[in-house]
Amino acid sequence: MLRVTRLALIGAGRMGEALLKGILQSGALKPDRVVVSDVRRKRLTQIEADYGVGIASDNVAAVKGADVILLAVKPQQLDEVLNEIADHLGESQVLISIAAGVSTNHIYDKVKKSLPVVRVMPNSPALVGAGISVVSPGKHATKEATELTVSIFSSVGEVVQLDEKFQNATTALSGSGPAYFYLFVEALIEAGIKAGLARDVATKLVVETMIGAGTMLKKTGKHPALLKDMVTSPGGTTIAALEVFEEAGFRAGVFKAIEAAMKRARELGG
Ligand SMILES: NC(=O)c1ccc[n+]([C@@H]2O[C@H](COP(=O)([O-])OP(=O)(O)OC[C@H]3O[C@@H](n4cnc5c(N)ncnc54)[C@H](OP(=O)(O)O)[C@@H]3O)[C@@H](O)[C@H]2O)c1
Repeated sequence: MLRVTRLALIGAGRMGEALLKGILQSGALKPDRVVVSDVRRKRLTQIEADYGVGIASDNVAAVKGADVILLAVKPQQLDEVLNEIADHLGESQVLISIAAGVSTNHIYDKVKKSLPVVRVMPNSPALVGAGISVVSPGKHATKEATELTVSIFSSVGEVVQLDEKFQNATTALSGSGPAYFYLFVEALIEAGIKAGLARDVATKLVVETMIGAGTMLKKTGKHPALLKDMVTSPGGTTIAALEVFEEAGFRAGVFKAIEAAMKRARELGG
């Protein structure tokens, strides 16, 4: 159980809900320790009904009495929220932001207080307890505040602590990463359908292959190239497919895609 008296979640969108669900399911916090705020009232009442958490009339009400405030609005919406709550923040509260691209220094400029601010980049598998979150303490973040943040995100998966200068790279890699994976999965399933397999069969084959390959990576700790070599026999089917991937610029495409995501993270940070 986390040492949190009241966690205020501001922004109950896709990621906010994923984290809320993951944290509650893990048992790290009881619903009566959480208060949620969002501009969409209908969504809030749904969240209240689904999870039994408290809901706040507005962001200022959510922040009052909270020891941890988790900001899960879009980067473009963050300044508005910070302007709204700045005067109501106390120096003992821990402010956690998961906004892509937005630096802790930017948050300090807005709130004009020396409270602990911690930047985190989670990812959507947090919903099923299989997330990976990158935690970076801001300049006034105490060891206790950082440790508390690590324990909150540990309840929904693995946590890595890194210097904030790496946050845009991690946003591009693990924050957005699930979408790249789903794109690949979707493409493989459709290729199977093109080859004449029924959709449900193709889906099962691809999903289990991905889970199996992922488990191999994690359990063996072997370099992916070594595991790839194990499947690639001379003159066989795999090398024929790999040649086509290389000709299509798969690797270069991945490099460019990650660069584009990092560039976008920098832009969102202003
Ligand atoms: N989605 C991911 O996989 C992922 C992964 C890592 C990090 N993140 C980060 O997580 C954050 C949230 O992303 P998301 O995809 O969950 O976005 P989202 O689904 O749009 O959720 C944001 C929620 O906050 C609400 N909101 C907007 N302005 C508000 C305000 N002033 N006060 C309170 N609530 C407000 C939004 O309402 P409206 O819809 O009406 O605007 C929406 O319900 C972003 O900063 C993103 O960078 C997301």
